[in-house]
Amino acid sequence: MSAAGAGPVLAPAITPIAGVPSLALAANASADVPVLPPGFPAQLTGPMTWTGSDLATTSDYILVLNDTWHAEIKAAVEHYKSLDQDGHLVGPPNFPLPTLGTELKALSGEIHNGRGFCIIRGIDPSSYSVEDLTLVYLGIGSYIAEQRGRQDKRGNMLVHIVADNSTEQASEHHRHSTKSITFHNEEAGDVISWLTRSTAAAGGKCIIASAYTIYNVLAATRPDIIRTLARSDWPFALPRFQCRPVIFYRDSRLIMNFGRAALLGSEAHPRPHHLPSLTCRQVEALDAIEAIAQATQMEIQTQAGDMHFINNMGVLHRRESFINGKSPTEKRHLVRMRLRSAEQGWPVPLELEREWHEAFKEEGVKHWHLEPMPLFFFPMRRQPN
Ligand SMILES: [Fe+2]
Repeated sequence: MSAAGAGPVLAPAITPIAGVPSLALAANASADVPVLPPGFPAQLTGPMTWTGSDLATTSDYILVLNDTWHAEIKAAVEHYKSLDQDGHLVGPPNFPLPTLGTELKALSGEIHNGRGFCIIRGIDPSSYSVEDLTLVYLGIGSYIAEQRGRQDKRGNMLVHIVADNSTEQASEHHRHSTKSITFHNEEAGDVISWLTRSTAAAGGKCIIASAYTIYNVLAATRPDIIRTLARSDWPFALPRFQCRPVIFYRDSRLIMNFGRAALLGSEAHPRPHHLPSLTCRQVEALDAIEAIAQATQMEIQTQAGDMHFINNMGVLHRRESFINGKSPTEKRHLVRMRLRSAEQGWPVPLELEREWHEAFKEEGVKHWHLEPMPLFFFPMRRQPN
C-alpha cells in the first residue's frame, strides 16, 4: 500500500465518490486546524482503496472450489485424522492441499496487501460432520494465516455467532443479537474470519467498507477529522480502559481499530459513569466514519459453507439485522476466528500490542468449542478418552 504524499496538506485533490453524503462532511466552522496531522498522507493509493460500486461487476474476490480442490480437502481431512492429533494442531504441513494450497497462499497476499478480503465458497456443511467441518475451516484458514487468537478473556478460540434470546443478557450481546451492528473492527487480529454454517431466513448479510477509502474522503474534505481520529485521547472502555488513537499510519499503512460499543457503550456493555465521555468532535468523527462507510460499503450475500477472510486493520465490517426461520438450516450460525500471519502480518502499533499479545500469546487457556456453549459450562467431550 502506498501513499501519494506526506502531510500536512490543505484540501488534497480527490475525485468525489458518488453517494458520499456531502452535507455531513461540509466544512465545520468550529473544526480543528484544517490540515492533516504530521506524517499522514494526502491520499492513499493501491488496491485497498475500493468502494462497493467499484466491485459491483466483479466476483473475483470469491474463490469457488472446484472438484479437484474438493478432493484435496477430503484427502487432507482423512490424512490429518490418520495422524490422531488434536484438531487445533492442523496446519499446512499436516493438511496438504497440493494445488489449492497455492491458491490460498495467493489469497493471503490479496488479503494482506491487495483488496483486503476474500471469500472461499463451495463447501457443503451438510456433507461433513461438525468435527470434520471445523477441521476443514482451520486447515484452509492456516494457509491464509497460521496463528489463531483468543477472542475473549475466557480463552475462546472459536466464537459462535448465533441468535440467543434465552436470557436478556445474551440477547443484547452482539454475538447473540439479531439486530444490525454498525461498522467496526475486532479488537485484535490481523485477519478476521467467519465460516457460515447456516444462514438466516432473511437478512444477516456481511457488509464491509474500506478504511482506506474512508480515509481518502476525510483527508480530501475534512482533514480536521483525521486529526481528531489520530489523537491519543480516545477513551476506549473495552476490553479495558485505554486512551489511544482510532487511526494509525505506520510503515506506509493505514490502520483503523475501533468499535462504537467500546467508546459509547451498548445495551450489553453500558458505559461506566466514571469513564470520560466522548467530545463533540469525537462523536462527529465516528458519525463521519459510519456515513462514509455506508456510502461506500460492499454487501456480501453469504451462503452456507462460505469462509470469509477480512483484513481487520484496513477493512471495517458490520452486519445487517436478520430473522431466523424455524428449521436449523434457516438459523444464522457463524464460527469466527482471529488470525495472524508471521510472514504477511502488518506491524502492530504500540498502542494495540497488548491486545494482540493477549490474543496470540502461547501461554494461557484456549478453548475450542465446536458448538455454541452456555455462559457457564462444564468441559465436556463427545468422545470417550
Ligand atoms: Fe465484528
